[in-house]
Amino acid sequence: MLLVGCNTHQSALAPFGVEARETYWLTWSLSAGAVLIALLVAVLAWRATHSSEGALNHKQGMQLVLWLGGVFPTVVLTGLLLFALPQMRPMAAASNDLTIRVEGEQFWWHVQYEDGTRTPLLAANEVRIPVGRTVVFDLTATDVIHSFWIPGLAGKMDMIPGRTNRLVVKAEKAGTYRGVCTEFCGLSHALMAFDVIAMEPDAFDAWLEAARRPVKAASRTTSGAKLFSDYGCNACHAVRGTEHDARIGPDLSRYGTRASLGAGTLEPTAENTAAFIRDADAFKPGARMPSYPSMPADHARAIAAWLKELK
Ligand code: CUA
Repeated sequence: MLLVGCNTHQSALAPFGVEARETYWLTWSLSAGAVLIALLVAVLAWRATHSSEGALNHKQGMQLVLWLGGVFPTVVLTGLLLFALPQMRPMAAASNDLTIRVEGEQFWWHVQYEDGTRTPLLAANEVRIPVGRTVVFDLTATDVIHSFWIPGLAGKMDMIPGRTNRLVVKAEKAGTYRGVCTEFCGLSHALMAFDVIAMEPDAFDAWLEAARRPVKAASRTTSGAKLFSDYGCNACHAVRGTEHDARIGPDLSRYGTRASLGAGTLEPTAENTAAFIRDADAFKPGARMPSYPSMPADHARAIAAWLKELK
């Protein structure tokens, strides 16, 4: 159990966000209080069984009930309430802060960066945020209820179809944090993760600017690009800067820069990508992506090679 504390990638015990830090201290305070009370009860029980005095008389008994059954819980619970109430207030966000809309899908994350001025930038299964700035996450779902949790940065928030829940996050340190779905949402619930990359504000602005540009135009003429359309991949997936702009499946613009395939399921190597294209259901049971068992292996490899070029 102690070793779990060494995991800084996905751990509520290693907080690097304002809200996660508050939750961390609340957890330790409650645990310390619980241990203290348990010790107190143990001491009282020991005294009661080892005391040479006889049974309490009626008046002493009533006093015991009054103090331990009335006064003590009232004081402890009031103290806890006063301690916890300020921490339940959602963090305030300035109006000009970055808003990122995330929709939970079976079983991936549709990400949309909105800075209010231009058309939103679409992405999938990876969220980048600037360090030290408050980021507002508008969270919803398209199919079933999911739950959005980045243990190192903030608490959990449900994603409910037809409703938008708001989570305000402020990262304190640059790094990569892992987020997960924490509401059972179907067969591949456990295969629904995402990376949150907290970047220095300047680096983030530069990345956002670069990400808005179309992907490399030269790669559009390869056989993989043609097969991508021939097999109808473009009916679901978008690649920015090409004519493919469907929004049913994950956006594949800059797939070549992704750290994972299938929302944290596999390493995004060319072989894994080709295997996933032919038989998505084998890697993500219940996923909406159809399998293509009759697709020749070299076709899958060509599409995978083209996708890896998208940067
Ligand atoms: Cu989405 Cu569990």
